[in-house]
Amino acid sequence: MLVDLKRNHLKDIFEYSKDPEFSRYIGMGMPNRLKDVKPFLTLILTENKSGRRKYFGIEIEGKVIGTAGLLNINTSSNSAELGYGLSRKYWGTGIMKAHVDQIIKIGFEDMGLEFLTVGTGILNVRSNNFIKKSGFSYTNSLNDKSWYKLQKVTYENCCT
Ligand SMILES: CC(C)(COP(=O)(O)OP(=O)(O)OC[C@H]1O[C@@H](n2cnc3c(N)ncnc32)[C@H](O)[C@@H]1OP(=O)(O)O)[C@@H](O)C(=O)NCCC(=O)NCCS
Repeated sequence: MLVDLKRNHLKDIFEYSKDPEFSRYIGMGMPNRLKDVKPFLTLILTENKSGRRKYFGIEIEGKVIGTAGLLNINTSSNSAELGYGLSRKYWGTGIMKAHVDQIIKIGFEDMGLEFLTVGTGILNVRSNNFIKKSGFSYTNSLNDKSWYKLQKVTYENCCT
């Protein structure tokens, strides 16, 4: 279930983020202490408030086991970037795919966006495979990241 993120989700986020397999390809470094993930959550809460993001917690049985949503929301180009991260315990279960599908729907149908992008580490094979399964097409590689794009028209033709 997608839920609004709150400050008291910090402990849940830390619990799965301290796994080096989780954090090796993402920008938060390798968190060792609870306070290491605080900047990540604070940024989400601040940007959610300002409208630059629409980012959620993924909750199961009262526990946040991942986050996903839209960042860098750009009202001029009507676009946003998709981001996602899930506790390793749940990889391969289809949980992230189901939640990302919901977020894509929110982006195109509720927010009226024209296209979505994803930038993921070139070496993050799992994430590169995952995002192609979610309908995105590879566009280019830049600064150690592979970039993918999904146009609204492509989404409408495949998934509505
Ligand atoms: C990226 C992430 C959300 C994907 O979720 P997931 O549950 O692992 O994804 P799925 O299992 O649905 O899909 C991953 C694909 O990679 C494949 N895969 C599995 N293990 C793999 C491996 N070791 N190497 C490469 N591909 C692998 C899977 O088979 C699957 O493809 P398939 O369904 O066609 O077989 C999750 O791995 C994650 O949170 N990683 C850590 C955070 C992260 O890297 N976020 C991305 C930041 S941009």
